[in-house]
Amino acid sequence: MSERSETKRIERAEGESKSAAAIVQARNLTVKRSRAEILHGIDLDIPAGSLTAVVGANGAGKTTLMQALAGVVPPPRGRVVIGDLDPGRASPREIASRIGFVFQNPEHQFIAHTVFDELAHGLRLRRVPDAEIAKRVGEMLRRFGLEHKAEVHPFLLSGGEKRRLSVGTALITRPGVLALDEPTFGQDRARADELLRLLADLRADGTTVLIVTHDLQLVADHATHTVILAEGRVHASGPTVELFATDGLFESAGLRLPALHRALNPRLRGILAEAAG
Ligand SMILES: Nc1ncnc2c1ncn2[C@@H]1O[C@H](COP(=O)(O)OP(=O)(O)OP(=O)(O)O)[C@@H](O)[C@H]1O
Ligand SMILES: [Mg+2]
Repeated sequence: MSERSETKRIERAEGESKSAAAIVQARNLTVKRSRAEILHGIDLDIPAGSLTAVVGANGAGKTTLMQALAGVVPPPRGRVVIGDLDPGRASPREIASRIGFVFQNPEHQFIAHTVFDELAHGLRLRRVPDAEIAKRVGEMLRRFGLEHKAEVHPFLLSGGEKRRLSVGTALITRPGVLALDEPTFGQDRARADELLRLLADLRADGTTVLIVTHDLQLVADHATHTVILAEGRVHASGPTVELFATDGLFESAGLRLPALHRALNPRLRGILAEAAG
């Protein structure tokens, strides 16, 4: 068995455990933007330790949902819980210690003039002592292969480096959940795979990962759980392997399955899933 399918088998085994507690929950979450209702009564449980993908056609409400769950745009009070924190009532600083958010375009979140200062920013806001900042930023630079870029302006990094810096910045306050909005958008397969390896490492260290993506192959290969959104509602959610085994589920949300999945009939998919798991 190849290393790749072995990984998939393990992820599936974990993904199938039904006992995992929810680390992010939404209950009857309704979100409006400029008076229009975008999300209509969302109920969701994101299992702790999962890599959960959020998928859906353009305009389905994926970004709005992620930003509400992560408190980037505060949700209505009493509708979302991250651990035991309500992002509708908490300060940005409290929220950032529970959940890190990575925007689709990393440049949107850069605010400092050097990579070091970008990583240090969240710690300085918290009045973390300088020695501790140097230590934690140093660790993050090493982890993301940016040691030699500490004094470089974030805008001068390569695309892959910008992405790694944006992830590092979201993680510097050590949140238990990392949320990313289309982090592989516009990247080639090699760079997307590099990011997915990084997310798998984070997950192995106990971080719950929430990711918006249009890439259903990536979802099939890496996500333990999947949420399908359609027109501001949860169309389906559950272990990824179960959703792919349900005929027509992705298509009825306006999504096109990757070629392999489209070619296989559901019964054959079920047999393969069983053989793999
Ligand atoms: N600030 C806003 N004011 C009015 N409408 C908005 C606003 N933000 C989003 N919308 C609308 O809400 C719907 C959902 O938008 P959202 O960006 O959450 O979708 P998405 O699933 O992330 O789409 P995409 O795949 O294009 O990224 C869309 O119809 C969008 O036009
Ligand atoms: Mg979006």
